[in-house]
Amino acid sequence: MKKVRKIGIFNNKGGVAKTTSVINLAYSLQKHDYKVLVVDCDTQENCFTFFMSRKDTSNILPTDYKNIHHTTWERYTSIDEQKQAEFNYILFDLPPTISEEVKQIIHHCTVVYVPTILGEFEISGLKKVTDEIHKQNVRLGGVFVTMYQAQNDDEIIEEFRRVLQNRLMKTVIPYSKTVRESQKAGLPIEAYFYEKGVPRTQTSWKIVNAYENLANEIMEANGHENNV
Ligand SMILES: Nc1ncnc2c1ncn2[C@@H]1O[C@H](COP(=O)(O)OP(=O)(O)OP(=O)(O)O)[C@@H](O)[C@H]1O
Ligand SMILES: [Mg+2]
Repeated sequence: MKKVRKIGIFNNKGGVAKTTSVINLAYSLQKHDYKVLVVDCDTQENCFTFFMSRKDTSNILPTDYKNIHHTTWERYTSIDEQKQAEFNYILFDLPPTISEEVKQIIHHCTVVYVPTILGEFEISGLKKVTDEIHKQNVRLGGVFVTMYQAQNDDEIIEEFRRVLQNRLMKTVIPYSKTVRESQKAGLPIEAYFYEKGVPRTQTSWKIVNAYENLANEIMEANGHENNV
């Protein structure tokens, strides 16, 4: 059976771009021809609603993208290992809480990545998150910064580097107002740019490049070649 990478995207802090990261990572990974299953573990069902193209009662649902399927945690628990192994990546979009169910999902993952925004409270809060991941005997893939704003955040990112050291990932996701626009349009950021005909050279593409870099960092760390 081929090896499926089960990747949790988790932070018990709300609004740090967990769901945004899952959606755009899934999009970047499918471009490398990997089969991706997105599992929405949050009762808010943001991911599920985003990808939902039709009402369906099956456990694994299609999206507008050939290589991305999606489901909820509840449905996922009925999917057997053989079916899971049809995917290269299973991405778990976790809710902002540390409940018993969340612990169980973290435990199920092969590796967990932690998105964070930059702030003093976030530095101290991250310890709780990383401790919980270790408690579940799961590998911490790394912490990555989201919604980075150059002028405001360059001092504090240095503090994060000092505290987290090699656990801080190379990729930094910039703040971009396009994120909300693309979500309003129901599209991953890159698909939204294509739809709007935005040329790839524009600085607004920075965020697309950043999510591509994040996918590359994750693929390299999990033994997958960058095929494109
Ligand atoms: N890079 C970004 N630039 C600007 N806005 C962003 C960026 N990433 C996410 N956002 C916005 O921030 C808000 C929170 O993002 P998201 O829902 O992905 O966070 P979350 O961690 O999944 O939240 P929750 O904890 O509620 O599940 C959303 O309105 C989203 O559009
Ligand atoms: Mg979310």
